[in-house]
Amino acid sequence: MPAAVESISPAAIQSEWARVEVLARCLLASRGGREPDPELIARLKRLQHQVEQVRRSETSPWLKLPTRGLSPLALDVLACIMVSEAMPRIGWLYQELQPGNPLPFVTPALLHMLLALEDDEIHELQTLIGAGGELRRRNLVDAETDGAFAALRPVRSAVALLMDWPEAEVAPPGAIRVRLRASWEELVLPPDREIMLREFLLWLRHRDTVVHQWGGKTVGGPVALFSGPSGTGKTFAATVLATELDWPLYRVDLARLVSKYIGETEKNIGRLFDAAHGRHMVLQFDEVDALMSKRGEIKEARDRYANMEVSYLLARIEDHDGPCILTTNLRAQIDKAFSRRFQMVVEFPRPDEPARARLWSLMIPPRAPRHQAVDFELLARAVNLTGGNIKNAALHAAYLAADDGGSITMAHIATAVFRELAKDRPQLSRNDLGPLADHLPAAVAGIGEGS
Ligand SMILES: Nc1ncnc2c1ncn2[C@@H]1O[C@H](COP(=O)(O)OP(=O)(O)O)[C@@H](O)[C@H]1O
Ligand SMILES: [Mg+2]
Repeated sequence: MPAAVESISPAAIQSEWARVEVLARCLLASRGGREPDPELIARLKRLQHQVEQVRRSETSPWLKLPTRGLSPLALDVLACIMVSEAMPRIGWLYQELQPGNPLPFVTPALLHMLLALEDDEIHELQTLIGAGGELRRRNLVDAETDGAFAALRPVRSAVALLMDWPEAEVAPPGAIRVRLRASWEELVLPPDREIMLREFLLWLRHRDTVVHQWGGKTVGGPVALFSGPSGTGKTFAATVLATELDWPLYRVDLARLVSKYIGETEKNIGRLFDAAHGRHMVLQFDEVDALMSKRGEIKEARDRYANMEVSYLLARIEDHDGPCILTTNLRAQIDKAFSRRFQMVVEFPRPDEPARARLWSLMIPPRAPRHQAVDFELLARAVNLTGGNIKNAALHAAYLAADDGGSITMAHIATAVFRELAKDRPQLSRNDLGPLADHLPAAVAGIGEGS
């Protein structure tokens, strides 16, 4: 008869900590020249068994961290290190076991004793926690120095994640949390684009059905590429998707990942994805233009990123098990080989006239007093602005009106539009405003009164 599969409770990780505590107590007893209590030994055996079961389980809490492929010894070591943060009273035990060491963290020397390591295991320990060791590379363990008596600190965010502490919110290294929220109603896009964006979410919503129930192939991602001119709502759409999922959105700054030191960039990229592993989050990579020029065709921007690093980053994005959104302002020559790697490519067009009218109506602050002559259709017809331009102009007009102490007028809006366009075009003339020019105060366009 097959053994009943024990279900693993969320508290399963507690048996790991309890086991380390018993190990430490046994060691403390033998240090004091005493035989460890037989009851303690029996407890150790029970815990040992529990720990093995937890680790084998498909719902093992360790799977919340990048622990795939780690050996049993590696998990033993990790448990001994993380326990200081997860269960601080064991940190005090460590201090008792290491007189003269003021820190509540385990050292390699203490690990030898606690885990009663054999010679070959001592070698493996080094590959785990030594400089560049596996547990350090995976951003699970931190050590300021090396050597037998160096404190091995758990990475707090990793412990928080393992323990379901709210600190699990901390951003993966190289990313920043975007706290904005936005709804579909605020997003102005052609209907077919909105449908594509909604389909992107299906990859997350129905993963269980397609992969687990239907045996669909697991690929990483999903990854979407949003392309289109600046200010057309690519970044904004990522906010809408994250809001819809109710997952935190993290924006990755490529410039922060790239280091001039050989190998550092790969390390940074590795840390980012290791920290993101298994967490519910949307990763957004803005302006990835530098990554996607055709192979062999070296663009100025791309010179900053060595070829190797680019392919490493792309490979990690593809392998990452979670949504990634890449945005680019380059529209034309997206390398086919590049876009084939993604589940979805969405082109963001400049808004047409009806879309611009809608954007104007959305961007004027909703409770602002508005002069009755404000005409969104005229605004939409007059100037071919992007959503980003309209947002800036609408807000600027509101500030002008607030300063005048009255309602928003077409003159305020004409002024604001003029300012917005003049950012890119210093030679701008009032004719560029089309029918809106009639509302532009003469002084704004640099035309003196009466001239
Ligand atoms: N299609 C759109 N629908 C709704 N708002 C938009 C749209 N395009 C731009 N915006 C507004 O303009 C701002 C800037 O747009 P953004 O998403 O940063 O553009 P992009 O990333 O394409 O350069 C957004 O925060 C949003 O308020
Ligand atoms: Mg953007």
